[in-house]
Amino acid sequence: MDHNFWQSRWQNNEIGFHQPKVNDYLFKHFEKALPKRVLVPLCGKSKDLLWLWQQGQWVVGVELTEKACRDFWAENPELGTPSEKFDTERGLRFFETDRIKLVCGDFFTVNSADLTFQNGGAPSALSIYDRAAYIALPLDLRQRYLDHLTSLVRTSPRPVSGLLITIEYDQSLKNGPPFSITQKELAERWDLHFNLTELESVKEMQKLGPSELEVTERAHRIEFK
Ligand SMILES: C[S@@+](CC[C@H](N)C(=O)[O-])C[C@H]1O[C@@H](n2cnc3c(N)ncnc32)[C@H](O)[C@@H]1O
Repeated sequence: MDHNFWQSRWQNNEIGFHQPKVNDYLFKHFEKALPKRVLVPLCGKSKDLLWLWQQGQWVVGVELTEKACRDFWAENPELGTPSEKFDTERGLRFFETDRIKLVCGDFFTVNSADLTFQNGGAPSALSIYDRAAYIALPLDLRQRYLDHLTSLVRTSPRPVSGLLITIEYDQSLKNGPPFSITQKELAERWDLHFNLTELESVKEMQKLGPSELEVTERAHRIEFK
């Protein structure tokens, strides 16, 4: 699954994954008592970014597609007009206003310095919010994603906690994305670096692509070990 796949999804407005309102699990389970920097990998133009910002969090989204990034600022004018910088070497574009930043480019080229803010003052405490990021990737990229995520948060003061939302369904009935994530996979891969606590799981019929399938959706609290 290459970059063109996602670029053309955005160009053709095939963004069924985009939710018009804040995600229920985020709303219910995000630990918002203290302001933190919240890393939102593969963020699209999610309304969850705005909601986190409205809760007083410092939000850093990473998104490949420039259209998604520009749409995000255009659709949320309350955030103001972001400053824009371009790192030609890594092909990363940085959009930033008060307490919210989008890094536009390949997640795998982002480093931990990119998750800081120009004006300083951001909390050092870091949190992760993964909705439709890990599950958007095929297995080989999922492992790479996890390795890279781990490298980004490794030097942050503990605790580094957050929320991971996954889905599980019969993968033989449909190709991803979104991909089905088994509990075995979570145990084999995530458990190496994170403590996972299942907060909620919901089994229901969901429209995935053209068909309705039985899907188990799970929200997990994650804490970097
Ligand atoms: C399934 S969508 C989910 C978007 C968002 N998390 C949401 O909940 O609406 C996956 C997003 O990841 C982006 N993406 C895919 N590969 C990426 C990469 N290597 N680096 C950054 N973003 C990527 C895509 O452009 C797409 O917007």
